[in-house]
Amino acid sequence: MTIIVTGGAGFIGSNFIFHMMKKYPSYRIVCLDSLTYAGNLSTLESVMDQSNFRFVKADICDREAVDRLFEEERPDVIVNFAAESHVDRSIENPGVFLQTNIIGTATLMDACRKYGIERFHQVSTDEVYGDLPLDRPDLFFTEKTPLHTSSPYSSSKAAADLLTLAYYRTYGLPVTVSRCSNNYGPYQFPEKLIPLMIANALDDKPLPVYGKGENVRDWLYVEDHCKAIDLIIHKGKVGEVYNVGGHNEMRNIDIVKLICEKLGKPESLITYIADRKGHDLRYAIDPAKIHSELGWLPETKFKDGISATIEWYLDNREWWETIRSGEYKNYYEKMYGGK
Ligand code: NAD
Ligand code: DAU
Repeated sequence: MTIIVTGGAGFIGSNFIFHMMKKYPSYRIVCLDSLTYAGNLSTLESVMDQSNFRFVKADICDREAVDRLFEEERPDVIVNFAAESHVDRSIENPGVFLQTNIIGTATLMDACRKYGIERFHQVSTDEVYGDLPLDRPDLFFTEKTPLHTSSPYSSSKAAADLLTLAYYRTYGLPVTVSRCSNNYGPYQFPEKLIPLMIANALDDKPLPVYGKGENVRDWLYVEDHCKAIDLIIHKGKVGEVYNVGGHNEMRNIDIVKLICEKLGKPESLITYIADRKGHDLRYAIDPAKIHSELGWLPETKFKDGISATIEWYLDNREWWETIRSGEYKNYYEKMYGGK
């Protein structure tokens, strides 16, 4: 079995590669990644020299490069993680989100049609459902909840998600789609809430909380997401959408306070800043379908996952300090400088 993992130099894609290479040593894993600011080749260092692993630097929008790779590898399965993934960046500059997230997904699926594959899996997101009100804890996103997006990021992901289902209905391409809630864990780029707060706290820098910090996200340890995708590509039904989430809702402010407590840092580092434009209030996944049909359940409790994550950032300072000293520094100044 040969699997092309796009976006494998990023956060979830790299964790997925580690999971698959450990569990299926006979599989060939090919990582296709253009190494944007969010892609980091050093993350893949531990697998780079393995004979059943190949890294290819290319853009998923580059039809020639994608076709060439399909000719060379004749893959059985494609798992598409490659995307522009940060909501705040999409508000500043939507164009690249439309290009990578929509055109890139279509380009990959065109190659799948041309060369034939067993499965194209699209890694979508719970953000395609929009948000839920804070005062209705009884409401959850199911696979039947209408798509109703808020940001350029989520809109581009919804377009890709629907395109994937359209390629199934129109061309019979064997696809599956997963819509997962917020992930956390090792190798997450330090522009996202949890790693940003850990890194800032360790450096005794202000902890920038948007609005009042009351927005709610539904957190899942990255390894549990990887296991869900593994199950879907092996046992999921073609043409189906699977929600992935572990009923672990938390307010942003409570996460930030917990990080302060765990690191022994004062809450006075918390700084409330201007809210994100169009900020989604609450995400909450109903994972009943993937549980009943595929037997998936999250295995990592938040208290253990967050401790392991903090531990990882403490032990791997060089990884995130290198990132924070590069291009990301300019982005941080621009986004948070005057706030
Ligand atoms: P990430 O930003 O950490 O990684 C994205 C990777 O894609 C990077 O390695 C980058 O170099 C690569 N990439 C970007 N544009 C590319 C292009 N045009 N061609 C080839 N490679 C390109 O993202 P992540 O947080 O790991 O998310 C991975 C996927 O999971 C995304 O599709 C995202 O929408 C989805 N998702 C993320 C979360 C989350 O909480 N992070 C939750 C649900 C779904
Ligand atoms: O729900 C899945 C989505 O989760 C994925 O599709 C996205 O790729 C991923 O980035 C994530 O989106 P969010 O916008 O929820 O994640 P982020 O880490 O950017 O923000 C989480 C919450 O924390 C959100 O309510 C905004 C808030 N926040 C974020 C940052 C970066 C702050 O208060 N301060 C910050 O500095």
